[in-house]
Amino acid sequence: MTKSRRKWHAETKACANIALAKYWGKADIPLNLPAVPSISMTLDGLVTETRIRVDETLDADRVELDGREATASESKRVIALLDDIRRRAKRREFAHVVSRNRFPTAAGLASSASGFAALASAADHAYELGASDRVLSAIARQASASAARSIYGGFVELPAGKPGQKSLAAKPLFDADHWDLRIVVAQTAKGPKKVGSTEGMERSRETSPFYDAWVAKAPAITKRIRQALRKRDLDTLGAAMEQSTMAFHACAMTAEPSIFYWQPATLAAVHAVRQLRDEKGLSVWCTMDAGPHVKTLCHADDARKVRAALKKTEGVLSTLVAKPGPGVQTR
Ligand code: DP6
Repeated sequence: MTKSRRKWHAETKACANIALAKYWGKADIPLNLPAVPSISMTLDGLVTETRIRVDETLDADRVELDGREATASESKRVIALLDDIRRRAKRREFAHVVSRNRFPTAAGLASSASGFAALASAADHAYELGASDRVLSAIARQASASAARSIYGGFVELPAGKPGQKSLAAKPLFDADHWDLRIVVAQTAKGPKKVGSTEGMERSRETSPFYDAWVAKAPAITKRIRQALRKRDLDTLGAAMEQSTMAFHACAMTAEPSIFYWQPATLAAVHAVRQLRDEKGLSVWCTMDAGPHVKTLCHADDARKVRAALKKTEGVLSTLVAKPGPGVQTR
């Protein structure tokens, strides 16, 4: 192979994750460091597949997302991540990136976590950097903090960052087989969210009177969640996850102008979950991210009942069930 025709390939699969303890707010904007610690469960089957080919005949990076050319703003974070990998690998060639989300439409989930985790690992291989998972997690975190967690499978913690802490990375807490939990997702609306998480958390930090209280309280909530995971205590975990959810949504709602992610079907699903707890005695708990969909947490044995109840809930468009999944896989 002559040098001018040389190409380097890689193909990666990364799973989405759901935060049990929420990340909302930044300690350092240029380095994208979270102001609070978060803990997530990586979700099996909700996968982004990313192929990358380094090609020295290209005169710019090319990015395709879900079968179309990426917009300039979508490409910006992708190129910033590629630049970071190239700088570390001391390489200059551009790359062709093709990324596809294999999420069922029912997922209603953001793809930035799985997308940037997949991209970091694929680019690491294609540019022959050979970085550790820890370094890849820090690289992915700079693109989107939740992506730092999708490098690992099972249950994962991303600590809060201190300003300037460039190397902040997530760390695996427990493997996927630690506990047979399920996330049952209730999709409550179609289309993209109105205020993205990056913008939503910035507006909350700048204007919500509750933001400082959230940042002060989040470490204690995260600690309860970590301990409950260790002890496999679902009632404690679920209650703390709901508190984390409501506290960050309270920040968003009280920002100026207010950010209101919930739809009527969101609230209907939250009440359906409470009814399952109060009337049927199920240990089932809910969480919502920067959008209207409701994700419920329960034991595998209860997932069918929870799904059936959510399917019957007014305004719920579709549902799916996910178990704890693996970390990034690259070839
Ligand atoms: C509500 O990771 O999307 O889903 O770092 O600005 O890209 P950026 O934000 P992002 O925020 C996720 C916020 C959340 C909670 C969570 O996943 O922890």
